[in-house]
Amino acid sequence: MTVAEVRPAAGPLSGATRVPPDKSISHRAAILAALADGTSRIRGYSPAGDCAATLSVLRALGVDVRRGGDDVTIEGQGDREFSPPPDALDCERSGTTMRLMAGALAGRPLRVVLTGDPQLRRRPMDRVADPLARMGARIETDDGRAPVELDGGQLHGIDYASPVSSAQVKSALLLAGLRASGTTSLTEPHPSRDHTERMLAAMGAPIESGPGRASVRAGALSAVDVTIPGDLSSAAPLLAAAALLPGSDLTVTGVGVNPTRAGFLRVLQRMGADVQVLSTNADVSAGDGAGGEPVADVRVRPTPLRSTAIDASEAPSMIDEVPLIGVLATRAEGRTQVRGVADLRMKESDRIAALVTGLRALGARIEEAPDGFVVEGPTRLAGGPCDA
Ligand code: S3P
Repeated sequence: MTVAEVRPAAGPLSGATRVPPDKSISHRAAILAALADGTSRIRGYSPAGDCAATLSVLRALGVDVRRGGDDVTIEGQGDREFSPPPDALDCERSGTTMRLMAGALAGRPLRVVLTGDPQLRRRPMDRVADPLARMGARIETDDGRAPVELDGGQLHGIDYASPVSSAQVKSALLLAGLRASGTTSLTEPHPSRDHTERMLAAMGAPIESGPGRASVRAGALSAVDVTIPGDLSSAAPLLAAAALLPGSDLTVTGVGVNPTRAGFLRVLQRMGADVQVLSTNADVSAGDGAGGEPVADVRVRPTPLRSTAIDASEAPSMIDEVPLIGVLATRAEGRTQVRGVADLRMKESDRIAALVTGLRALGARIEEAPDGFVVEGPTRLAGGPCDA
């Protein structure tokens, strides 16, 4: 067990900083580059273990992936098929790798097994296996979980009303749709992050999309030269700390602010924090070198915070930042209600239970709900043990 000891900050958090490159966009850049015609260059690939797992899965399929410093160069397969991997494809702890690769491989004449570490093998994979099977893939799970056995082949497009708002499910279907006959369409209850749609468009795929819907037809992808923006999920804890620490004035530069992903910034603003989104490339277009992603500098200064409410319609745009909203709520005046985030129980850990137990141990007034939590604020948190 790793133990980290955290003490209260001695002063404000001020200055400008960068954060590591975006994980979600890095996974997509690598997978789409592997499917494209020609050589793609990805500048500033995420150093996260999950994104390394995607590269090693691609290498196991015979893709020429070269990593030098922060950059990754990938020779796309184009019309060529992947090579049969010698072993099961190990997605380690990465749900994004497993779900997106299941989609990318479903329409290819190849037998593969996708597996991962025990934590990943506990997470639901039927949410991608079911729609892929409806497209004609022969796909088996272990009672809805990994290992996922896939015997890929000819697929046909479907019109799928996804019961979950999940970018991983949506992306798996869009990737499968690139190899299917006809059109593959998906709607989701509430819009999830659209990084896949933007990058597919940047690579010339026949894709159409709008809030909560996307459709794609079979088509070739062109190689790209793309720079990955900073990860808003990595910026969020720093921005939250700056919003709480008196006297702070923090700017995170070059961070991705895609609206389908930036719900956290909107909530921070709504809670009263002084949030400025500066120097954006707001007129972003598909071929601009950022994979069609808006990038900005985000500046935060503290002000007294007030409570807020979050429901299922907003949840996907900030799904990984919801625990931080729980922390902010402990310092906000009033009752903050977060509902419609039951999917957080199916992440790497049950993030609702972990948050409630952890914050309570530090003195927060927080109640658990099946699909979220309620925080009464403000309370002063005190040091204590917290199992992360
Ligand atoms: C991700 C989508 C989200 C998110 C995860 C990364 C992605 O998961 O929580 O960290 O890269 O598509 P879901 O699609 O399961 O909501």
